[in-house]
Amino acid sequence: GKTVVITGTSSGIGAEVARLARFQGAHVIGMDRNDPTLTLDGFVKADLGSVAAIDAAVAELPARIDAFCNIAGVPGTADGELVARVNYLGLRHLTEAVLPRMPRGGSIVNVASILGAEWPLRLDLHKQLAAAKGFEAGAAWLRDHPVPQATCYQYFKEALIVWNATQSQEWFLGKGVRMNCVAPGPVFTPILGDFVSMLGEERVQADAHRMLRPAFADEVAAVITWLCSDAARWVSGVNIPVDGGLASTYL
Ligand code: NAI
Repeated sequence: GKTVVITGTSSGIGAEVARLARFQGAHVIGMDRNDPTLTLDGFVKADLGSVAAIDAAVAELPARIDAFCNIAGVPGTADGELVARVNYLGLRHLTEAVLPRMPRGGSIVNVASILGAEWPLRLDLHKQLAAAKGFEAGAAWLRDHPVPQATCYQYFKEALIVWNATQSQEWFLGKGVRMNCVAPGPVFTPILGDFVSMLGEERVQADAHRMLRPAFADEVAAVITWLCSDAARWVSGVNIPVDGGLASTYL
């Protein structure tokens, strides 16, 4: 079977992806700052917002990694600098460290959000940030282009979608490794409550009225494991909404 490394496996979507990937026969290594709550083939405990912790964690990973899923994330109720480190800068650093262990045909999946859908409004900024490669260069660019706390979650999900689209071209053509995003709408996980404080009751209620219900984590997991599989071998650089149609209702 394939070896799949997944971040955020101790809760929510990451836990469901780990469960489904194991059910499908993969050898699953989890990574999280909290202890796992389900059976895994391996686990590395690490704070994925710290370069030193990421480098130490990567040293524990297997030499061959067929698929890699960036699912760990913090909500916008966390400090903006932490959101930048965990949801974007650390994610990029970790992915770059894992890439040399991936064979041709490998697959990377990032979890963005429906809240990143407004990336076209700031495309130029996000391209500049994507071009500031490496954790330190990215952090320096952000010091010159500060992000408001109130919209930091949205901003770094937008930035992730743009980095995914631009960086994936080089990796697919040069290394045969695909990289894609999924963008969930609301999902029943512990983070969901934080979105009410982040966005306000009104926006969350308005979204709720456009939908039948939030997603269940396994409905998002199914799309992520499909992107990891060879069935998706010609899919690269895209962002797939998994939102029950919510994004289309904004048109
Ligand atoms: P969750 O809160 O249930 O799980 C997040 C996991 O990430 C936790 O296990 C947590 O320990 C881990 N994590 C957070 N910071 C970390 C760090 N510094 N180092 C290592 N691990 C860390 O949330 P959920 O819903 O499963 O979120 C997964 C991803 O999905 C996140 O990137 C989130 O932004 C995204 N998302 C979630 C939506 C939702 O409605 N639940 C909607 C759209 C996107």
